Amino acid sequence: PFINEMMGITELERGLARVLDLQQAVVIPGDSDHSDSVKKEMGRAGARLLKQTAQPDQVVAVGGGTTVAAVARMMTASTVLKDTTFVPARGGLGEAVELEANYLASLMAQKAGGRYRLMHVPEQLSAEAHDTLVREPHIQEVLRLLRSARIVVHGIGDATTMAARRKSPPALLAELERKGAVGEAFGFYFDRAGSIVHRGRSIGLSFEDLKNVDTAIAIAGGAGKAEAVAAVCSVSRCDILITDEAAARAILKKV
Ligand code: G3H
Repeated sequence: PFINEMMGITELERGLARVLDLQQAVVIPGDSDHSDSVKKEMGRAGARLLKQTAQPDQVVAVGGGTTVAAVARMMTASTVLKDTTFVPARGGLGEAVELEANYLASLMAQKAGGRYRLMHVPEQLSAEAHDTLVREPHIQEVLRLLRSARIVVHGIGDATTMAARRKSPPALLAELERKGAVGEAFGFYFDRAGSIVHRGRSIGLSFEDLKNVDTAIAIAGGAGKAEAVAAVCSVSRCDILITDEAAARAILKKV
C-alpha cells in the first residue's frame, strides 16, 4: 500500500496495464465519483483516442451510460471520423434516453460529423417479441453492421448501482446479489471471477463478438468501480482502459 500511495500517474498506468493485461491504460488524475471535471477529462481522453485510432469507413460500436456520454460530449468535427458509422452496442437497457447507447451513437456522429444507425429495440421484451424483432430485416442489417465493428467503446458499472438505475425488478436485484454480481458492461452482469451471471434479453453485441474487434475501449472511473473494472477487464476483451486515479489506486491495492 505504501508503494501504491507513492505511485505517480505513469506508474499507475503501467501497473494497471500489467495486472489487467491491457495494451494501454490511461489514468486521469483525481476521482470522477466526486468531480465532474475528472469525468470530463476522461471523456476528452476517450474522444482523442477515437480520433487517433480512426480508419476510413470504420464502424464504432457505442455503449451507454454517463461516462460514454462524457466522451460523446467531447467529440469535435473531424475529417478522420467523417466516414465512420456509429452504431449502438445494444438496444434499450431501460436507462434515461440521454444515457442510452442509441442516443450516444447519434450524438457522437453529430459531433464528429460521421454517420449513425439506430437500434429501436426496447428492453424487457417477451421471448416471442424478441424473436420476432430479431428477424426484422432492418434489425438484421444493424446487427450485421455491429458485428463488423472495428472499435467498441463502452462503460463499466457497479452491478447493484446499474440494476437500481435501470429500475430492475426486485427479483433481478435479489438474483444479482445471490450470484455475487459486482460489475456490469452493456447489459451483462459479471461476478468477481469475471463470469457472466446475468444477461438481459436486449439485442446487440455480445461478449463473444468482442473478440472480433480491433480495439475494445473500456471507460470507467471512481474508486467505487474498482471491483467492477477488475472483474470485467480480467475476462472480457479490454485493450484500452480509460480510468481515473481513484479507481486505479483501488484496483492496484486489491491485486
Ligand atoms: O452501461 C452503463 C455503464 O456500464 C456504466 O454507466 O458510465 O454511467 O457509470 P456509467
